[in-house]
Amino acid sequence: MTPLQSSDSDAFYRDLFENADDIIFSCRLDGLLWAANPAMCRFVGRPLPQILSLKLSDITAPASLGELRRMLEFASDPEAPRRAELTLVGANGAPVRFDIGFRVTSDEAGGAMIQAIGRDITDRKAAEEHHCQSQKMEAMVLLAGGVAHDFNNLLTGILGYSSLLAEQSGDQPEIREAAEVIQRAAERAAQLTNQLLGFARRGDHQRVPVDVHASILEVVELLQRTVAHNVEMIPDFQATTAWVLGDPGQMHQVFLNLALNASDAMPNGGTLRFRTEAVECKATRQTPWPLPPGQYLKVSVADTGVGIPPDIQARIFEPFFTTKAEGRGTGLGLATVYGIVKNHGGHIEVSSELGKGTTFAIYLPLSKHSEPRVESKPREKHGASGSILVVDDEEMVRLVLSNMLQHLGYKVTTAAGGREAIRYYREHWQETDLVILDMKMPGMSGRECLLQLREINPSVNLILSSGYGREGVMQEVKELGVTRFIQKPYRHSTLAEAVAEALAVKP
Ligand SMILES: Nc1ncnc2c1ncn2[C@@H]1O[C@H](COP(=O)(O)OP(=O)(O)OP(=O)(O)O)[C@@H](O)[C@H]1O
Ligand SMILES: [Mg+2]
Repeated sequence: MTPLQSSDSDAFYRDLFENADDIIFSCRLDGLLWAANPAMCRFVGRPLPQILSLKLSDITAPASLGELRRMLEFASDPEAPRRAELTLVGANGAPVRFDIGFRVTSDEAGGAMIQAIGRDITDRKAAEEHHCQSQKMEAMVLLAGGVAHDFNNLLTGILGYSSLLAEQSGDQPEIREAAEVIQRAAERAAQLTNQLLGFARRGDHQRVPVDVHASILEVVELLQRTVAHNVEMIPDFQATTAWVLGDPGQMHQVFLNLALNASDAMPNGGTLRFRTEAVECKATRQTPWPLPPGQYLKVSVADTGVGIPPDIQARIFEPFFTTKAEGRGTGLGLATVYGIVKNHGGHIEVSSELGKGTTFAIYLPLSKHSEPRVESKPREKHGASGSILVVDDEEMVRLVLSNMLQHLGYKVTTAAGGREAIRYYREHWQETDLVILDMKMPGMSGRECLLQLREINPSVNLILSSGYGREGVMQEVKELGVTRFIQKPYRHSTLAEAVAEALAVKP
């Protein structure tokens, strides 16, 4: 091939200008467009004559107007950079990020002109941001894991010695009380570190086939009966099978946390849709895909709530990030969800529009299993039966407890406080086989509630529960003449045994 001769060069340069994929344009220093190539006309969606009556600012997204002004104002300064990143708004209204390189020339009359070439870098930017975000989360995972692990060791010391102190306090009640306060604080801290460990994927977890559909249905059933009276929950299962390998308890927690957040976001009611579908995922040029290619179960959890402001969307998965009032949220819900999903070889994304709602999309690798497995089936088949009233001021405890008990096959009613419990019991004491009562509640205390329950039914069958150490409350439990006590946090097996025992001695 012979090198380009000057006589051919006009055609060559015209061809370059006319057929480039990049946008090429020229404008005056006030931004009025003076020339544009076909790629630019296609992008703006107008014919050339119309484009030449536009100013660059007419097609620039508001967020980029500052950058545009800088570009035009300093164009004549030879020291100023000759690159800019602008978001322009194209024909369909979609913002497109352009990397623009430009130079300044002059027209025939000697006026300064800008000549520019712009390349669409929207996808590259998105991929970079995605990458940055996941690196940040990875760093947090490492940090959280390290801190939580060391912290747990320290807490073991604190808990051990404070209970020793409490035991040896003898006839010095103020020392016992102080030791118990330390214990309580340390127990709360241990709960937090355990949640952090969940986020950091260091906790134990099972790997058994889990039917995600069953897991979602459990959460729906649980919440409909307890918190979300004005939220309509819609399971919308498009996937024919929904088996993934993992931990049934953790999977349940993922949907529970998402659903609780969603119902918080819909104080005036709304709908919460759980849609599942099987999808084939792989990275393409347009969409970065962070996992190995393959068959995934996509679960979209979509609410019609208040939405998440764009500026905080990138932070919601961070541990301790919360917008809720002090005491209402710890900001560990989504961090835990994130940790669990990653732990299961999955991926989570969020999209949200203010005032319209939020959708979390979770991708989990589909497992080949299609046989129903015993593990993830509710255990009611074991024949447990009976009606239990759970009285606890903490919503999460009520949820967990009623969930565990329902799994075991019991019928559960919950009450958030003593008064509510008494009201219920007065009407239903004959069909209530067992009451699980929290000792420490604001308002009516556990003790007082117990006394009133006894007034209604002197032989009320009861298990006392407390988040505090057994030593601290045993005295009180004995005084009240109650023999059964379980300590929070409940282990499934301990709870099952305690309840079975209590029901076996039912008069
Ligand atoms: N469905 C949703 N709609 C609107 N905002 C949400 C939604 N889910 C999460 N958020 C926002 O993300 C923040 C973090 O959620 P996350 O579950 O991690 O913590 P939290 O709910 O505030 O506290 P916790 O779950 O520990 O009780 C919330 O405070 C809220 O601002
Ligand atoms: Mg939450």
